[in-house]
Amino acid sequence: MARMNRVRAVAVILMLLSAAILLTAGCTHRDPPVVVKLASDERSEFVGNLACAECHASEFKAHHGSRHDRSLQAATRAELGSLTPAMGVVPLAGYAMAERSGVLTLERQGLEAGKVERQPLQLVLGSGKLGMTFVTLVDDNTLMETRMSFFPPYKLWDLTPGQEIKVPGDAPFGRAHSGQEAHNCLGCHATTVPSRLLQLAPRFYGVGCEACHGAGAAHIEAMRAKKYSEPHMANLAAETPTQINDLCGKCHRTARDVDLQSPEVNLTHRFQPYALQRSACRTKSDEPLSCLNCHNAHADVSTDLKAYEKACLNCHAALGAAAPTRVDPTSRQARVCPVNKISGCVGCHMRPKPAFTLTTIPAKMADHLISIEKK
Ligand code: HEC
Ligand code: HEC
Ligand code: HEC
Ligand code: HEC
Ligand code: HEC
Ligand code: HEC
Ligand code: HEC
Repeated sequence: MARMNRVRAVAVILMLLSAAILLTAGCTHRDPPVVVKLASDERSEFVGNLACAECHASEFKAHHGSRHDRSLQAATRAELGSLTPAMGVVPLAGYAMAERSGVLTLERQGLEAGKVERQPLQLVLGSGKLGMTFVTLVDDNTLMETRMSFFPPYKLWDLTPGQEIKVPGDAPFGRAHSGQEAHNCLGCHATTVPSRLLQLAPRFYGVGCEACHGAGAAHIEAMRAKKYSEPHMANLAAETPTQINDLCGKCHRTARDVDLQSPEVNLTHRFQPYALQRSACRTKSDEPLSCLNCHNAHADVSTDLKAYEKACLNCHAALGAAAPTRVDPTSRQARVCPVNKISGCVGCHMRPKPAFTLTTIPAKMADHLISIEKK
């Protein structure tokens, strides 16, 4: 029993440490200051999504195949299906994509005449909604990120964000990241990352249940033993809006993670928790907003803008509107739009912005800084 508690305490400490590490970096690869070892798979208390399915079928079903679930995938045609890029020359890359014995492989003409250099690929980051970056685990501590990323909606290759400018040490196929940087990269796209990268098991690919809920082994053990009073699992439904924003912000990034001295300061459409922290709807509200006002943590974003407008109208209700309102009509919250009291809120106040400023990819993302934009 004492031993179990110690194991659990170690797991909790490792979780906190890994959360701290995630806070220090982002897709833009700033150098993280701390170096901490994460739990390795063999000792870990993480079990993978499938172990939750038998008792939480509806959450499992909603999450399965979601963009969180698919944010890290094996780089095989079997896994990627219709998202697999076309084989052949990758424009402007100096290499081509080929399939060798079922494995996606980069190839280029070597320096020696007739000699072809090959780089087999292992994993893909990004579900394919916007972009996918291929990586290969070079050794236990290093991953190589391809120079070009694939953007399935446009069937285009373009420079991987962060690799727009070559730096000394860049290899022909891309850039190597090692140590903490390599762990962080997988850490935001996987459920848990072992201290030795090559041991990352497929059941931990993608943002799984335990990325948000914490390790599940003790919970399952307790539930099987019918110890319902000790669930060993945080009840996220009881968390405050700030705790929820921090949880989502450990990957989507809060004000703590954004370099306010850099152009990142304007990326309120890329770093949603940071944006929400700056919105009047949150800072001036008696009932602060969290991601859960508008999103279901287990499912992809809804494309039904009416659903979001309903969330706006919970606070900005027009008097006499059909929608029931929880707000006191005399409070600040009850401010009503002088332009349109009923609809179109998101298009005017959360206007989509270009997701990638340094490439030609035209994708846009909703600005989570809810505001009145000057024309
Ligand atoms: C053997 C069945 C079983 C398995 C497997 C299982 N759970 Fe549970 N879980 C339960 C039961 C029973 C409850 C309590 C439900 C209730 O109170 O209504 C619960 C509650 C929860 C809660 C709510 C906790 C709270 O305090 O309200 C979460 C979150 C949760 N489980 C997540 C998971 C995750 C994640 C996994 C996989 C790692 C998992 N469960 C695996 C049976 C299981
Ligand atoms: C472990 C890191 C991590 C955590 C924690 C996390 N996310 Fe994500 N989230 C991601 C990644 C990575 C993606 C990109 C998925 C992809 O490749 O399309 C994503 C995508 C999303 C999307 C877009 C889905 C779509 O349909 O386009 C939403 C919405 C989202 N997350 C909301 C949340 C919310 C709400 C929380 C907190 C309850 C949260 N996330 C916690 C990493 C995380
Ligand atoms: C701090 C957490 C974090 C780190 C570190 C991180 N990512 Fe992400 N990544 C995200 C989140 C969150 C999203 C979802 C963006 C969104 O939809 O808002 C994402 C999205 C992506 C996408 C989908 C396309 C896009 O730009 O939205 C790719 C590809 C990607 N990341 C690759 C990488 C690679 C490669 C690394 C490491 C070299 C990395 N990421 C490091 C959190 C992270
Ligand atoms: C992106 C973060 C995230 C992921 C991934 C995630 N959850 Fe949750 N889950 C939440 C949050 C936040 C809540 C509380 C708010 C709510 O009920 O929506 C929650 C609530 C729950 C509950 C309690 C429901 C209730 O009504 O009290 C269960 C059970 C659960 N999740 C199981 C799972 C399982 C199983 C998976 C994986 C298949 C999973 N979750 C994946 C964030 C997440
Ligand atoms: C939890 C309640 C709440 C929700 C939900 C909410 N808001 Fe707000 N919003 C507020 C409060 C409070 C203010 C500040 C009013 C004031 O300054 O007196 C505000 C301010 C605003 C402003 C003025 C911003 C400024 O900088 O002056 C706009 C525009 C706005 N909200 C639009 C929206 C839209 C659009 C949505 C839905 C996408 C939304 N709000 C959802 C509470 C909310
Ligand atoms: C007031 C409502 C609202 C709140 C609160 C909110 N979102 Fe969103 N979110 C939206 C809307 C609207 C979209 C665009 C949906 C679409 O694609 O049409 C969106 C889209 C997204 C996307 C997909 C990228 C894109 O723009 O298509 C991510 C990721 C996301 N939200 C994460 C978060 C996170 C994390 C939080 C909490 C910090 C959060 N959101 C809070 C309304 C909200
Ligand atoms: C066509 C664009 C458009 C649409 C649609 C729209 N708004 Fe506005 N909204 C504006 C503009 C412009 C202002 C600033 C008006 C001014 O200052 O005279 C504004 C102001 C506001 C304010 C601040 C009011 C105050 O007293 O300070 C709130 C709150 C607001 N809108 C919420 C909403 C909500 C909620 C919706 C959806 C039901 C919505 N808006 C739809 C353009 C729009």
